[in-house]
Formats: sequence, C-alpha cells, structure tokens
Amino acid sequence: MAALAAGAAALMVAAGCGSAGGSGGGDSITLGFAQVGAESGWRTANTKSVRQAARDAGIELKFSDAQQKQENQIKAIRSFIQQRVDVIAFSPVVESGWDTVLKEAQRADIPVVLTDRAIDSPDTSLYETFLGSDFVEEGRKAGRWVTEEFGDAEGTVRIAELQGTTGSAPANDRKQGFAEVIGNDAKYKIVASQTGDFTRAKGKEVMEAFLKSAGEIDVLYAHNDDMALGAIEAIEGAGLKPGEDIKIVSVDGVKDALQAAADGEINYVVECNPLLGPQLMDLVKKVAAGEQVPKRVEVEETAFDQQAAEKALPDRKY
Ligand code: AHR
Repeated sequence: MAALAAGAAALMVAAGCGSAGGSGGGDSITLGFAQVGAESGWRTANTKSVRQAARDAGIELKFSDAQQKQENQIKAIRSFIQQRVDVIAFSPVVESGWDTVLKEAQRADIPVVLTDRAIDSPDTSLYETFLGSDFVEEGRKAGRWVTEEFGDAEGTVRIAELQGTTGSAPANDRKQGFAEVIGNDAKYKIVASQTGDFTRAKGKEVMEAFLKSAGEIDVLYAHNDDMALGAIEAIEGAGLKPGEDIKIVSVDGVKDALQAAADGEINYVVECNPLLGPQLMDLVKKVAAGEQVPKRVEVEETAFDQQAAEKALPDRKY
C-alpha cells in the first residue's frame, strides 16, 4: 500500500498537479502567437523557427496568421485573451494603434512579448520585452554601402527605394537609417520611393513603374530581399543587367538573395535574422514565471558582399 501511495504521489508531481498556470493549468505554458503573415522568405523562416522552438521547449503554441492586416492581429490577440493563454507574443504588422488591445491583455494579467517588430506606444508597461533587430542600423548599413560604392562617382547618384509595408517598423526604420547616412551628401538623390509591401510580386510591379517614370536609376535600395528579387525580374524585363546597370542593395539575407548576390545580380545584402524562435521561447518561459527580463533584446547580424554571399550559401538554411 505504501509503495502504491508513493507511486501515485510521484505521478501527480510528474503531471504538474497542484501548481499554478494559465489556460491549461499545470506547469505547461500556452503561448498565443500572432504572426504578420507569409509575405516573404524571411517570414516563412521566422514562422518555422517559432513553431520548431515551441515544440522543442514543450510550449503549447496557438498560432494565428494575420495576412498582413492589423485588424486580424487585433482579433487574434482578443481571442488569445478569451482563451486565457499564459503569454501572448506578436510581431506587429504596423507600429501604431495597439494601446487599446494591449490594455485589455494587461487587465487580464496576460504578459505580452513583442517579437521582430516594435510598436510606437509611449506606454512601455504594455509589453514585457522586445526581441528582434535594430532596423535603423540595417538601413544605415545599406546607406554606408552606397556611399562607399559611389564615393568616387561624379554627378548625382540616382536612387530608387522599394519600401516595406507602410507604417511597419522595418519600413520606417530602414528608411530612416538609410536617409541618415546618404543625407550627409547632396550628390545622393532618391528619385523614386514607394511601398512594395515586402512581397516579390509588388516589388516587381513597382520597379516596372519606376523604370518607366523615374528616368535613369543608378541604385535600387530594397527594404527586403523579396522585393529586390521581384525588381530583378523587372530590370531584366527592361533589357538591363541587375547588379551592373543598376546596383542593388537589399535587407534580409535569405538563400535566394545570397544566390542572386553570388550570381552578380545583387551587390550587397544586409542581414536581418529571422531565427528568433529559441530566444523567444526562453523569454516566454521567464515572463510566464514572473522573472525580470531586459526590456529590449537585439539579435546579432552581419552583411554580405558578393564574395561573402557565395561563401555563406552552402550553410544557409532558409
Ligand atoms: O519585420 C521583418 C521584415 O518583415 C523582413 O525584412 C521582411 O522580409 C518581412 O516581411
């Protein structure tokens, strides 16, 4: 009898009986994750990383895809609140307009983690932490490459810019960082700038329009690789050589872009790391346990010229 009782007690501990928790009860953590969408190669890699890391960490993941629409993300967050998940994480489609729904999460006592993209609310109590990249610095890196590449050029350097999703943190910040650097020299002129919504199809469409209306273009600065890859098709379609007739700098570092750089079609790729899953799950566990976490956690990133891209290609997983 004593052995039986001891066995039953051990089973209860293993099942986590008697401990506190959110929706599921017990020790297991339920994470509601509201993703931006599936607009780019970067995003696909990010989603895979989050899903895999949740499995590895034993965290139950409720995943929602907002299809690049803020209203869908707000609905998903409200649904996570109703389901009483332990932690909500999300990558905000745009920077503004989150206070109301995040106050609802706060009132429900559900901690929020921002990942990949930040929000612009002055009320930083609405989230525990942010995990992601320094997008302004990514823009600066792209700008520095342009000023080095065209340092000796005489006359105006005419730049076309494919912006990311309007109102999103990476579009705002990458524009700002780039402008900071090229703004110091009057010879750099942005002759066309429009959103391509971070997609390949839009990148192609907008570049086609630029080529018809913007006059000569020396450089294309694309806020992400997918738009640069779409633009390459447009440039070729116009009978020009991408990487030569029009130099290209883009941001992300997905395999297709590194391949295009190795093939001479993209000149410089600034890395934005999508493999945030493992670090996100560590933060989620800490936040769920009520531990203090840093307010901002930035990931390490590099940049690739054509040679470095060729070297990195065999190990690139996404
Ligand atoms: O927020 C990160 C950006 O979003 C990536 O650069 C882009 O590819 C994605 O869609």
